[in-house]
Amino acid sequence: MPAAAPTRISTLSEGEGLVYGCDYNPEQWDRSVWPEDIRLMREAGIGLVAINIFGWSTINPGEGRWDFSGLDEIIELLHAAGIRINLGTGTASPPPWLTAQHPEILPQGPDGTVFHQGGRQGYCPSNPVFRAHAAEVVRQVVARYGSHPAVALWHVSNELGCHNALCYCAASTLAFRDWARERYADDIDALNRAWGTSFWSQRYGSFDEVQVPAQVLSLRNPGQVLDFQRFSSDEQLALYRAEAGIIRAGSGIPVTTNFMVTAHIRTLDYWSWTADMDLIANDHYLDGRLANSRQELSFAADLTRGLAAGDPWLLMETSTSAVNWQPHNFAKEPGELQRNVASHLARGADGICFFQWRASTQGAEKYHSALLPHAGTDSDVWRESVELGRMLQGLGEIAGTRVAADAAVLFSWENWWAVENEGRPSEDLRYLDQVHAAHTALADAGIVADLVRPGADLDGYRLIVVPALHLVRDAEAAVIARAVERGATVLVTFYSGIVDEEDRVRTGGYPGAFRELLGIRSEEFAPLAPGERVSLSDGTDASVWTERLRTDGAEAVALFADGPSVGRPAVTRHAHGAGEAWYLATQPSPDAYRALVARLAESAGIAPQPGAGPDVDIVRRFGEHAAYRFVINHGSAPVDIAAEGSELLTGVTVTGALTVPAGAVRIIKEDV
Ligand code: GLA
Repeated sequence: MPAAAPTRISTLSEGEGLVYGCDYNPEQWDRSVWPEDIRLMREAGIGLVAINIFGWSTINPGEGRWDFSGLDEIIELLHAAGIRINLGTGTASPPPWLTAQHPEILPQGPDGTVFHQGGRQGYCPSNPVFRAHAAEVVRQVVARYGSHPAVALWHVSNELGCHNALCYCAASTLAFRDWARERYADDIDALNRAWGTSFWSQRYGSFDEVQVPAQVLSLRNPGQVLDFQRFSSDEQLALYRAEAGIIRAGSGIPVTTNFMVTAHIRTLDYWSWTADMDLIANDHYLDGRLANSRQELSFAADLTRGLAAGDPWLLMETSTSAVNWQPHNFAKEPGELQRNVASHLARGADGICFFQWRASTQGAEKYHSALLPHAGTDSDVWRESVELGRMLQGLGEIAGTRVAADAAVLFSWENWWAVENEGRPSEDLRYLDQVHAAHTALADAGIVADLVRPGADLDGYRLIVVPALHLVRDAEAAVIARAVERGATVLVTFYSGIVDEEDRVRTGGYPGAFRELLGIRSEEFAPLAPGERVSLSDGTDASVWTERLRTDGAEAVALFADGPSVGRPAVTRHAHGAGEAWYLATQPSPDAYRALVARLAESAGIAPQPGAGPDVDIVRRFGEHAAYRFVINHGSAPVDIAAEGSELLTGVTVTGALTVPAGAVRIIKEDV
């Protein structure tokens, strides 16, 4: 049973302000180190510590054998120090004795490769033997600590599905058949219709013939692949629910798990998880492989707030400096950690936790940064950790305040799967690129956006951006149309509205689901070659996509001036009800995109944050009596911001204007 009301996350910190926390893996250290760890945690101001995340082989060293001595001791040490505990169920990685006894629990790749013991998360999510053993671990841990006064939060497993979301073994095949039987009400013809199995002679005679979409000689069946992704997300959710159910039967403490709202994990449809979470928690690391990693951070933070339905959320893991799992692991520049933390706080986080407390000296993550680095306390990273604790303590009054947005961007993991299914018109059609481009254009124009799921209530939003919403249900398209009818401005971008829930093309001209709303009709896609650019009649240029579009009630705002769709509309506007529906048939340059959304925002009556731009991020959180304006200067020059109020980090009173130095963060408390 999901909790009735979301947990106010400040109640996780002793002082009721913002949470400052970390992962702690005491089993990696001699017990003589533990008291020093606790002393230094207090020095840094750590209030919430996640333990027992990878504890299975320690607390359950063999079948039926249990040893809680270490966990008992560390829990008492933390408790005595007034540090609250985020208690892992311990099931994140099965111990070697279990996989030795039951090698059938090991996960399998699409080519039949079995992934062996020796890494982590080495289990098939559908395997009943794994599930039974994991459930027993949770029962034991809950029975022992379910009412311990130091435990403030339950942490189910760890990053469920990070490595093992898509498993192709025999147990997964059986579970997929059961899932399909339920989805198609035991009617194999319904599955055949949904997957279009007449194509390439794939018609199934019974559910027992249905396979997981393992490696084949050609392209795979896109309907089967899409359903397998839905199934795989549901299997991970089932693991979460099983553990949460055991916890709730034996403990009244709130339950969560750490999501991975990030650019490189796309296997879990978190919209379907939120009702089962007592609070929303996310792990986020800067991704040095991206062209604009800080914008991705802002996007992920806005999306996490969306998952929390606007309530405050917890950043469960991030890094003080470099990670160790990217090809090149960049150390943070001076000030970068503070800017990253401020970006999460500005977008609704009420707590910042780190992986991990003390840098490991062994194991695969020994070169991952930590709050307490290998260099020890005489280090810049440690001094920053202490400084951050002070900063978070000083910002306690922002806990519980909320971000208010006039704009929304629609986002869907299911659509991510659909957009990037095999056999698409262009490999350069990457869903996240399109969503990031829209979100960045808004942020750079000084417009804060909520991320919402298709079908969600859009009342209250004056500007709605619908980037590449390829798969859309009739009811979801209707919500967008209704928002325009009541006066909103909507911007739909290319490759939207093309297929229904079963990935079946809507015929009669693209974009089927939005033709009438947009007053356009497109006959053919005409994507561009890699790196190719086209010019538009308004003097801007664009890339990735064009299409053979004509207006059917809409007005052409800009035309393609060259390229495969020369002379055809590239940007259109259609008055619909009391609002306007715009269509973008290509990917504009960042400047042109920013100018377009700024124009739409203005006509929708949204005032941008003055002073915001590509280098300056400005977001406000609102409380009952005050607003908190975060100004994060990512650039190399100071900026002047018109402001009145008091600045929380420096304590200065602001009258008229505030200079924010290069690379600095300022938080202005304003009257409302
Ligand atoms: C994830 C995991 C942690 C650790 C970090 C490293 O967030 O949950 O156990 O591996 O990544 O960045």
